[in-house]
Parts: sequence; structure tokens; C-alpha cells
Amino acid sequence: MSIIFDEAKRMITLSTKHSTYQMKADDYGYLWHLYYGSRADGQDFSYQYLGQDVGFSGQPYEEKDSRLISLDTTPQEYPSFGVGDYRLSGAEVVNPDGSRCLSFRYVSHEVRNGKYSIPGLPASYDQDGIAKTLVITLKDPSSKLGVHLYYGVFEELDIITRAAEFFNEGEGTIVLERVSSAVLDLPFGKWDLIHFHGRHCMERQFGRAPMGHFITEISSGRGMSSHQHNPFVILCDKEATEDRGDCYGMMLMYSGNFEAKVERSQMEDLRVAMGIGSKGFAWNLAPGESFFTPEAILCHADGFASLSHRYHRFIRHHVTRGKYHLAHRPVLVNSWEATYFDLDEDRLVALAKEAADLGIELFVLDDGWFKGRKDDNAGLGDWFDTPDRLPHGLGSLISKIRALGLKFGLWVEPEMVNEDSDLYRAHPDWALSVPGRLPAMGRNQLVLDLSRKDVQEYLYGALKRLLTEHEISYIKWDFNRCLADVYSRLLPAEAQGEVAHRFVLGLYGLLERLVNEFPDVLFEGCAGGGGRFDAGMLYYTPQIWCSDDTDAIPRMRIQHGTSFGYPVSAMGSHVSAVPNHQTGRPTPLDTRGVVAMSGAFGYELDLGKLTDAEKEEVRDQVRMFREDEALIHGGNYYRLTNPTEIGYFTAWEFVSEDKNRALVNLVMDIAQANSFPLHIRLKGLDPKAVYRIEEADGTYTGAALMYAGYSYPRVLGDYPSAQIHLTKIE
Ligand code: DGJ
Repeated sequence: MSIIFDEAKRMITLSTKHSTYQMKADDYGYLWHLYYGSRADGQDFSYQYLGQDVGFSGQPYEEKDSRLISLDTTPQEYPSFGVGDYRLSGAEVVNPDGSRCLSFRYVSHEVRNGKYSIPGLPASYDQDGIAKTLVITLKDPSSKLGVHLYYGVFEELDIITRAAEFFNEGEGTIVLERVSSAVLDLPFGKWDLIHFHGRHCMERQFGRAPMGHFITEISSGRGMSSHQHNPFVILCDKEATEDRGDCYGMMLMYSGNFEAKVERSQMEDLRVAMGIGSKGFAWNLAPGESFFTPEAILCHADGFASLSHRYHRFIRHHVTRGKYHLAHRPVLVNSWEATYFDLDEDRLVALAKEAADLGIELFVLDDGWFKGRKDDNAGLGDWFDTPDRLPHGLGSLISKIRALGLKFGLWVEPEMVNEDSDLYRAHPDWALSVPGRLPAMGRNQLVLDLSRKDVQEYLYGALKRLLTEHEISYIKWDFNRCLADVYSRLLPAEAQGEVAHRFVLGLYGLLERLVNEFPDVLFEGCAGGGGRFDAGMLYYTPQIWCSDDTDAIPRMRIQHGTSFGYPVSAMGSHVSAVPNHQTGRPTPLDTRGVVAMSGAFGYELDLGKLTDAEKEEVRDQVRMFREDEALIHGGNYYRLTNPTEIGYFTAWEFVSEDKNRALVNLVMDIAQANSFPLHIRLKGLDPKAVYRIEEADGTYTGAALMYAGYSYPRVLGDYPSAQIHLTKIE
């Protein structure tokens, strides 16, 4: 049983295969968080909390005489605000009387089979009947604000999801100013925070920092989950490594403004609160209404590798959906770095011919194909092909490409509009902007107000028309600027704090309609590379363009950071030209292939410029990816080195679930004279098995490869790479 209620103690225990989560309602209804960590059955964890009077912390009124219980020093499941717990709260609200106090008390709970869903928002799903749902209802007796705390327990996968639904049973409107999807109290220990920061072309860089006595915030206020921070954090023991140590992952399934706040308090405990970003957020909850937070996906594991494996499996099987989420992903060629805006039909067909000849399966026409789009100054919003861009029309191009045996894919950026477009000329009020204020620009474009039904309908109609009129097998959904001037002309002044979230709801609604109506289309997310790489988007698009930096060397760092939370199958990754267009660096074709193949694989260069020998190498890469795809996308991923530490090579490994096959990739990223062989300790193998290494023509026991390691000879040159294939032979 993954959810157990002890009625006498009013205690609820959630169990997954390797973890235990416990909470308990006390006599006054305060819901204590008692434990989350390695599995430990048959225990009431309240024995750890020895009530004590801590100066200036105060007591709930009911405890005024004993002075032993303070909300400020005990772990809470969904902490109150303004009533004696001075740490981070679960929510901040303004009650109809102007007060801001909030004190949630336990009322009831319910256990359901299956996994809850969230209206209008993405949420993990359970098609196999393996999950259970717990709903705990808390209410503030004075304000009549209630909250249902949802827990999805995926026992076998070691995942617990959380979300909250606020409901107003009072007479007046309550304003929600901050809402957490989940709060987690870690009462004892010394904790590091692992987070993934970056910028455009350098997303999700691994960062690790000890948590001192301050409040740390990882957040985005850009209207998108962002290049700068990712809605995924890990709290880990300060000694934790890839292989061992307590790690707690918290991932928000949301693509807009978010925040993860971490506070270490006077009692040395750590509190983490994660939810929608509160900057500029204010949601009016009228009597009778309810409001759902996005879902947070929680996981406890021993070591980073195990944490990543659990997230990867969960995202692949219970977040991504549709025909492609576990299936072969077509190897693609994308026109962007091959032609940029310099499109003409002959050039595109020539690129497609080369691609077909090399075994590539999908041709993607990137930006520049639609009305007015000769550069990035114009056209966004007008999703029609015109003779000035494609003289014989999109239909003619698609038939030529399909005649070559390739599938056809198309780039769109639906949420945006250029001032120089028919759409903007007809509906200037459809863009986010504040009357009387000049809007901030980004890439010469404005953001459409997706909180509006008419805008949603226009985009739905435009995309439906494209997908119905043409044989399109793939859509790249781009998003190339942050939100600013977040103001909707259809909403009253007091509702403007809702716009950023309503925008995200509008986007999700649009995507939901399209993915359901066009189940055969593979959707790939993109936001100037990986600016919206999150579990929310992965619910609609099983792969996301990982970064606009296609240079294999920095790409390794980007993919390394991304791999902590997200599976390799989610990371769009392409071989591009040298010298690389973003960095000017030359790297060999095999190294570019090795790095790009550790993702949803493709090419993005003028294939016609390759030599015959290089074309042969591309053919081999495509063949190899197809052979190894199940291992790469479906196997367990191990980071063997940390590219953010000084070393001279980066290595990572894939091991099949049954441990019968493994693939090690090595890239020498710093050239040194007189350097020694590359020594790596493999991971995840069967210690008792014997493996044959194809490239070395030798056999080794799994134990030897994991405990003693394997040495690969040093190779001279610019960023050389190697692949080592292992097959279990006995
Ligand atoms: C940003 C994307 O990340 C690129 O791959 C490309 O599609 C451009 N936009 C096109 O404008």
C-alpha cells in the first residue's frame, strides 16, 4: 500500500519503492511534515521533534500555557503566513478584510486510485493504473479559504507529485499573491542547492552552493521558464556525489514565471517552497471559485545518478505523450544554419536531396518561409506562404521533398507578432502592451496576448489550416523573446496580475487542442534554443531544441546540466558546420556526431558542402544512431565526468535496462602535451558479467570495468572523440 492512514494518530504515510514520506495532523489541525527520505517502514517519525521553548518564536494561542510548540520551529506540510511561522510560507493572500493572515488546518483527506489531473495545466499521467492519489483538505477557519493538497504517488518509480487547489468558501474575493505547488521541510543536515543557470546559447549550467542562513531564490520573471534559470532544483547533502548521498529533486511542470525559494532558519532546518513566480502575480479568487497551482514533481534518491534515472524514466513514461514519446525519432535536417533567411526552393530541394541520400528521414523548413519574412523585422503573425518567399508555394516544396522519401516539418513562432505584419496592422491591441507606454522590444517583435480567446482562436485556426492543407509531420514551435509590458486590454485593472499566468494557460490550451487533433505530428519545443526547457512543455512536445549553441564543446556542458532532470530523448541536438557559427570553433565531424547523437538527433548545415568522405561519415552516424537509439534514449544515463571541473576529457555512458549493452562516449576537450591515457570507471554494469568491447576487441568483467576502470589511449588533435560499445557475452 503506497498510502497508509493511521486514524488514531491522524498520520499519513506515503511509500515508494525506496522512499517514505510522512505527515500528521496535531490536535489543533496543524499538519506537520514528519519525514521524507530513504524508505523506513513502521515508524512514527514525530519522535524526532522534542518540543522546546525557543525565544521569540511564539506559540499558537491554543498552546500559550505550555509554550513548547511553535509553528516557527516545527516542520510544516503547507506552512501558514502571518500567524507565528516566520519562515517561508506556502501561500500569501489578501483576505477580504485586508488582513494577510492565513492558517490552514486539517479537515479531511481522501485516497483515490489513479493519478489526479489538473484542469487547464499539464500534469503527469498514469495509463498503467500504477499511481494513487491522496487529497488532503485544509481550511482557514476565519477567512474561509481552503486548499486541497494533491499528492500523486508513483510507488515503483519513486516519484511523488504535488499540487494545490485553493477554493474560496467565503463571501468576498481573496487575492492570491503567492502560491506554492509544494513546500518541503528538511529538518536536519547540511544542504547544498544544485541549480541550473545560464543565458541564451549557454543554458542549464550546473551550479552548486551551500545553503547558509539566508533565503535563496531561483526564479524567472520573464514569462517563460527561461534560459537564465530552470524550474528544477536539487537539495542534497553537502557530501552527495553522483553515486551516493541524500538528494531531493523538485521540478515544476510549468513554462512561465516560477520561483524556488530556499531558507535555512535559526534551527538549522531548510525549507524549500516552489511554485508560480510571485513577482507581479495576483489572482482574484471570487467566492465559489478555485485556483490550481502547477504540479511539482518530487523525488528522493541516493546520489545524483539515481535521481536522474528516476526523473528520466518518469518524464519519458508519465509526462511526455503521444505517438513519438517512446518511439523512434526521425533523424532530421533543419534548414536554419544551412540557409538562414536566404531561402529559395531550389536550394531547399538540393538540401533535401543530399539529406535523403545520407539516410536522413525528416526535412525541417525553419524560419523565413512565410509572408514578409525576409529577415527578422517582419512577418510574424502572418502564417501564410507567399510567392516572394516560395515562388511555387509551400505545397509545391512539400511535394518535392516528400517525393524524395522524406517527411516534412515546419517552423512556427505562434505566440509572437511583428509590428510589420498584417496581423498587427489589423489588431494592434492583440499584443501585450500598456496603453500610453512604449513597449519593450525583443528581436523586433511583440508578444501576443494569449490570455485572450480571440488570439487563441486566431492561432488555432492558422495552425490548423497549415496542418490540414499540407502534409506536415513535424512542427518546431519557437518563442524568441521574453514577456514585458504584461497587460491585457480585455481585463480590468484589478485582474492585470493574472495576465502572465493566463498567458501560459492560453498557450497550454492551444497546444492541447493541436496535439490531440494532429496526433501524427511530432512537435518540438524551442525558445531561442532552450529558453523554455521544462516539464510543462514536455507534456506537449516530447523533444525541445536544447540550445542555439551547436558547438559540440559547450554543448556538452549544456547537455550535462540538462541531463540532471531531463531525459536525453528530450534534448534536440544537431551536427552543425565548422567553424561553428556561434563560437567560431572547429571540431571534427565525429565529435559533433557523438555529442549530437546523445539527444534527439539531427543535422543543421549545408550538406552539399561536405566532402564525399564526410558524407560517408554522416551515413555511418545516421546508421549508428538508429542502431543505438533504444540504448541512448531508453537506457540509463551516467555522467562519468563533470565538464564544469577542470579535466581534459568529458565522458558519459548509456547502459541498457537489462545491462546487456552499454555505450561510452569520450570527448577530449583540452589538448595537453604528454598527457596520460583517459581513465574512466564505468557505471551501472553487471559486475558478474563479461563484456566484449567492440572497439578494443577484448573482454572484461563488469566488476573490472567498474572498480578498476578502463583506459583509452590519448589521441592528438583538435577535440577528438571516441565511442566504446560494450556487449554482455556471458
Ligand atoms: C531560434 C531558434 O532556436 C533557432 O533554431 C531558429 O529556429 C531561429 N530561432 C529562427 O528564427
